Amino acid sequence: MPVNETPSVTRSVNRDDISQDEQWALDFSCPNHADVPALELGRSLQSMPRMIYVSNHALLAFPEGSWVPTRRSDIIDVLKSPELFSSDPGHFSFSSIINETWRLPPIEYDPPQHSKFRKALQPVFTADQVAISRDKVKMIADEILQSLFNGRRCEVIGDFARPFAMQVLLTYLGLPLATWSHMAALHTTVVHDSNRDNAASAVNELKLLFANILKSDAHSSGTMIHRIRQLRDSGDWTIEESVAGCMLMFIAGFDTMVAMIGLQVRYLAMHLDRQSQLRANPGLIRGAVHEMIRIFPIVNAFRRATHETELAGVKIRRGDWVLVSTPIATADDLHVDDCTIINFNCPRRSDISFGYGIHRCLGLHLAKLELEVAIHSLLATLPAFHITALTNSPVVAGRIHSVESLDISW
Ligand code: HEM
Repeated sequence: MPVNETPSVTRSVNRDDISQDEQWALDFSCPNHADVPALELGRSLQSMPRMIYVSNHALLAFPEGSWVPTRRSDIIDVLKSPELFSSDPGHFSFSSIINETWRLPPIEYDPPQHSKFRKALQPVFTADQVAISRDKVKMIADEILQSLFNGRRCEVIGDFARPFAMQVLLTYLGLPLATWSHMAALHTTVVHDSNRDNAASAVNELKLLFANILKSDAHSSGTMIHRIRQLRDSGDWTIEESVAGCMLMFIAGFDTMVAMIGLQVRYLAMHLDRQSQLRANPGLIRGAVHEMIRIFPIVNAFRRATHETELAGVKIRRGDWVLVSTPIATADDLHVDDCTIINFNCPRRSDISFGYGIHRCLGLHLAKLELEVAIHSLLATLPAFHITALTNSPVVAGRIHSVESLDISW
């Protein structure tokens, strides 16, 4: 396939017609020294065709091959067309780990059911509702950071990002903070453990936990569990949908936050001048966080074609998978005009990092608040910090791109 084929020049290519040479193994991983992974990816995208077929997604822990649009406009086209590209994961849903068939509302639903679930959850995710918990979120961050302050170094992911993100999530769900370490371990097992028995027992434990919690009526208003309980009591959601709804909040709100905190702190630890800029003018932190969200996209999602169709000059068959990668969409963008300039004074809109279309992140106000508070407290508590050893903080590719460990010293 020619590299810069224009959308109007449609060429029908079946998956089977594509030679092995064209079945690119996508390498999302990024060299240790790179501060902006999407820039590295952007360089390799330039030589790729508009559409490739990747037959092995081991890197993304996805068990099948998929089409991979490599241009932002094609990725957006997929995200804009849920009737053609479904979010129903079929037998790859979390429920399949325990041989069940329920789906996670709203993310695993297509229209028209999707909007019923999404609208029902919206009241707990508005900017105003989220802002109410700012003080509590700050207290969580400050408490963890105070315990690190007396040392001269820490491992950001384990010492800060994981306890912080899980404690905020539990607060927001309306669950006790004391359980954070067990809940974080459960999350990791459900999402990352390749041993099916371990993952199944973690899914069962969560299912039971949420089912029991939903039975109790001692939930403060404004929490996610309180809202889901209302939906169940009013008969709008079944018990199964309510438990699955709790499960999604728990799954969607942790890995993403840990990864984004890791990438943002990694960038600041690599750029002491940026830290000084923010320390001297904390009013810039909000814009800086938004700018870093734009430049550090982390989510790779999949869609499945509901009908035979054409995309980027390729014939997609019904049932084919398509990767919709926010890192790829951003990487493609980075080669247009001056998008690579990271400007804390004049941030661009965060754009595709939170997705696009009907599934755009419901938790984005919470995510922004958490990041703002985390970076603010980190800069207010720790003196100038730097990466202890670059080789210890690579960005790891996955369904969620992340930094597995990040040693910093001060
Ligand atoms: C920086 C952190 C985050 C990023 C980058 C992020 C990114 C995304 C993306 C790209 C999607 C769309 C996925 C798709 O189209 O398949 C999404 C959906 C979603 N996110 Fe987030 N997310 C973050 C944090 C959170 C948090 C903290 C929560 C809640 C606790 C949350 C809840 C959700 C939900 C419920 C959806 C599904 C929306 C729907 O299907 O209508 N996210 N997120």
